[in-house]
Amino acid sequence: MPVTVIVGAQWGDEGKGKVVDLLGEQADVVVRYQGGNNAGHTIENERGKFALHLVPSGICSPGTVAVIGNGVIIDPTALREEIDDLESRGISTANLKISGNAHLIMPYHILFDKVTETALGSKKIGTTRRGIGPAYADKASRVGIRVQDLLDPKIFHQKVQAAMKSKADILRLVYDQNVAGLEEECDRYLQMAETLRPYIADTSLILWQAVREGKRILYEGAQGTMLDIDHGTYPFVTSSNPVGGFASVGSGIGPTAIDEVWGICKAYTTRVGEGPFPTELLDDDGRTLRDRGHEYGTTTGRERRCGWLDLVALRYAVRVNGMTGLVITKLDVLNTFDEIKVCTAYRCNGEICTEMPPHQSTFHHATPVYETLPGWKTDIGGVRRLEDLPAQARDYLEFISDKAEVPLALVSVGPRREETIRIR
Ligand code: GDP
Ligand code: IMO
Ligand code: MG
Repeated sequence: MPVTVIVGAQWGDEGKGKVVDLLGEQADVVVRYQGGNNAGHTIENERGKFALHLVPSGICSPGTVAVIGNGVIIDPTALREEIDDLESRGISTANLKISGNAHLIMPYHILFDKVTETALGSKKIGTTRRGIGPAYADKASRVGIRVQDLLDPKIFHQKVQAAMKSKADILRLVYDQNVAGLEEECDRYLQMAETLRPYIADTSLILWQAVREGKRILYEGAQGTMLDIDHGTYPFVTSSNPVGGFASVGSGIGPTAIDEVWGICKAYTTRVGEGPFPTELLDDDGRTLRDRGHEYGTTTGRERRCGWLDLVALRYAVRVNGMTGLVITKLDVLNTFDEIKVCTAYRCNGEICTEMPPHQSTFHHATPVYETLPGWKTDIGGVRRLEDLPAQARDYLEFISDKAEVPLALVSVGPRREETIRIR
């Protein structure tokens, strides 16, 4: 593991947190490069169970530097709460470094996220309502407020006032919102500035030095490929680029430094929020996946939609990420099934397609073509070596890896660090 990117291969919640926590033990640096506290990464190790939203999942490994890169957007209140929670549970955040170039999620971004979702009605995206879209929109519009602005109250005020001018009018006149007190809410961020100051650093330089010293760097993607704003199921996506290529942009290190991209993929599929999902199951099998996989959102508690594994989407994820290794998680969730279906193609407008349809309408109407594989009907939670898995489970993994044309790197058979089969 020289410089490796961990990326979600599906619609998020693939178990990236578990994998990063596990590999983080051997990493010198762990880096978040996009997204914000819309992410919910669950880790379970000897120090307890944690739900992380902004702090990189390497934080539990003593000595590992945890970087929040410039591509992340930060709600300072959420970050402060997360740091305080970790510290109160004995996890030191002394090695946390935050990019001064990362943008802030402001109180008005959260309000905009809520009112625009409500206004969309049945056409809503189903966002986490954390202000993600509006904050990235302001970044692109060059009216964003950055972490470094917290360190200069005069500039902070000027920028907030400039940004608020038109926003207050829109919120009031278009969305009928009471905006009294909104600017004071923004000012409250400055009270947190001093406690965040020790964490703010030139993270691009820290990473550059780490690369030159041959240190092991692990990038932790948030969300997943199919939620990518460019490559996902637009407009039902998040507002950042989870794909591996963005690790470079979102951290300030050139792409030549990256050696490996590992895609994390559940042994089935889930999705939270709205948008197309060809293999979604609305039957007993779907309910079994949800119950056995505890498929409820880490961030919002919403029920996750569940379905069979979609190999068309996985092959697409292999392509757009340049995946060099595949991690299959939650294989144990399939323990009880007699038969397991896998989508190997879509039926689109009467034709069979094995590649992701490039036009959204075709994808929205795509129906899955399944192959059926036998289940193993055994508890595999205790298995630690590939050869100790039942033959049907090994066949299932081989089928996925062959069709996706990417070698297996790890298999996860339970939420805890040690519940893992290491292959590479
Ligand atoms: P992330 O957002 O990709 O980090 O994933 P989440 O943490 O949101 O969701 C994954 C959930 O599955 C968490 O509750 C994990 O503890 C759990 N989990 C991860 N790997 C496994 C596994 O192999 N088996 C089972 N049963 N649970 C797992
Ligand atoms: P992790 O990192 C699953 C989904 C939301 C919604 C869409 C847009 O835990 O895998 P946003 O708030 O980002 O504007 O919402 O993206 N979404 C996620 N789904 N896992 C996540 O993160 C997600 N982050 C956002 O449900 O459909
Ligand atoms: Mg999650």
